[in-house]
Amino acid sequence: MRAAEPLLSLQGASKSYTLGSNVIRALQAVDLALVRGEIPAVTGPSGSGKSTLLNLCGLLDTADEGELLFDGEPLPRGDEARRTSLRRQAIGFVFQGFNLVPVMTAHDNIDYPLYLLGIPAAERRQRVTEALARVGLAELGAHRPDQLSGGQRQRVAIARAIVKRPRLVIADEPTANLDAQTAAQIIALMRALAHDDGTTFLVATHDERVLPHCDRALMLDDGVLKGACHAH
Ligand SMILES: Nc1ncnc2c1ncn2[C@@H]1O[C@H](COP(=O)(O)OP(=O)(O)O)[C@@H](O)[C@H]1O
Ligand SMILES: [Mg+2]
Repeated sequence: MRAAEPLLSLQGASKSYTLGSNVIRALQAVDLALVRGEIPAVTGPSGSGKSTLLNLCGLLDTADEGELLFDGEPLPRGDEARRTSLRRQAIGFVFQGFNLVPVMTAHDNIDYPLYLLGIPAAERRQRVTEALARVGLAELGAHRPDQLSGGQRQRVAIARAIVKRPRLVIADEPTANLDAQTAAQIIALMRALAHDDGTTFLVATHDERVLPHCDRALMLDDGVLKGACHAH
């Protein structure tokens, strides 16, 4: 049954970093299943392994041990070509610092990933216009990032992530640079997009105020996933 199958699952994923003679066990035997259309939060203090976990799920990095399945398909560590193509086609990213190109308008920032995918200009224009509207910025496509507020910049970054129509969006501390009210609005927007499109949004945050707006919370403690606690 495909519908019941998780979008992404990690089984026994471990990851260590070696610094000189020091081995840092960033993740230890993590089991995780992400369902379509949900927005789970990964929480835990700084250094608990949140970014390491998101980088594994975003196919930006590989585990030392364990298995990863995307859409039921095992993704072996060695298959870089498959991993890269899945990452480009099926995964969007939202970052703490927005990572917009400062000299490009909001419209052109959102357009860029579609241009890289080789999508024709007319279709790109239509999709960018739609993405701007969905994040509530229909009127602001011609603005550059420095002409937008922090919350508006993060909306542009979300539009850039969803314009590819990804299966999964990875958001690492997306609200860390925003005030509490704007942070709540940004998470609520992600949640609405997740529920409307069936896109999964995996959000790392150590902001307790964000948790009530997510579907569930996964607690990381020193690289160990402490299981789910209900966010609300
Ligand atoms: N590239 C790296 N090299 C060495 N150590 C790293 C690297 N990335 C992360 N770490 C270490 O792994 C642990 C988990 O880091 P991280 O996943 O960034 O946690 P978080 O995102 O929760 O702050 C920390 O002890 C961190 O110092
Ligand atoms: Mg981090």
